[in-house]
Amino acid sequence: MRGRFLFVSIFLPILILSLVSCTRKKGAGTLSERERSFEKNDRVIVGFSQIGAESAWRIYNSKDVQSAAQKAGIQLLYTNGEQKQENQIKAIRTFIMYQVDVIAFVPIVQDGWGNVLEEARDAGIPVIVCDRKINDEYDGLYAGYVGTDSREEGRQAARFLLRKYEGCEGPVNIFELRGTDGASASEGRRVGFRELLASDSRFRIIHSESGDFMRSRGEEIARNILAGNGTFAVNGERIDVVFSCNDGMTLGLLDVLDQQGIATGVGSPVTIVTVDAQQEAIDRLKEGRINCVVECNPEQGAAVMDLAKRLAAGLAIPRSTIVSGKVFTEYDDLSSLPERKY
Ligand code: AHR
Repeated sequence: MRGRFLFVSIFLPILILSLVSCTRKKGAGTLSERERSFEKNDRVIVGFSQIGAESAWRIYNSKDVQSAAQKAGIQLLYTNGEQKQENQIKAIRTFIMYQVDVIAFVPIVQDGWGNVLEEARDAGIPVIVCDRKINDEYDGLYAGYVGTDSREEGRQAARFLLRKYEGCEGPVNIFELRGTDGASASEGRRVGFRELLASDSRFRIIHSESGDFMRSRGEEIARNILAGNGTFAVNGERIDVVFSCNDGMTLGLLDVLDQQGIATGVGSPVTIVTVDAQQEAIDRLKEGRINCVVECNPEQGAAVMDLAKRLAAGLAIPRSTIVSGKVFTEYDDLSSLPERKY
């Protein structure tokens, strides 16, 4: 613990200082000063605060951002928040201290960013919110958002269930595995999912639990359910559907169900719907163990770098840039689907 604290509070600023001091432009200052001094050939410096490495999706998202920066000729100061908002806030403060051209960050949760974003605004550094959203109250404190539409991802999951259970009498008992509480990716999917199912009384969410977007937590939650009486049920009610907010948690859950010989997917009594579309989940879909995979597209780096360059040049950017994704289901022919990158 102490080691991590020392890294974030002491070594990270030193590391960033040494990186920035090699290339820092002389014209750093308020936004208007920087606009005036911005020269076409200046190398743009972007401070990027990532959440951590909680999932295969996130690891690929980080790689994508790093390689996009390289391709765009941007100097990226990349930090890993290790799943802690306080680490992200410290990293952003360090970026402000060293007057990067643009700050980009993935907010682990929606709340709690007011002070640090005001500091960035006062320093004249534009901010891009990436992948996850922040609360509406901070609307005036950042330039734009780049990421997926998590509410639509929840709706897509619900659309699949409406198709799957068309003509069935019900009830359909749903077990929901949420992501990190307070994170927009979890909240948006939760809201979108309910939005479409609320008016159909057959669908009942009988249990909802957060697995923090982590495979180990999906596994732990599955073990706890089965510890009851060895059947896949909660409080004596059978589970017909698992709606899981990410593939990591789904795969952890499936590891346990596999070991216990509990069937899931096509032709079984348990339908599995998951979000992300990493290769391992697609493989499970092809095997028939998962019924539907809603893609959350992690390839957001190119858009972030493009917008960062525009901001550094003093240009306006769109308020929202949505990176779209596909839906893969048991009804699709997936035989020619190319191998995925994550
Ligand atoms: O914010 C996107 C979510 O975060 C992805 O669904 C999940 O896998 C990741 O950790």
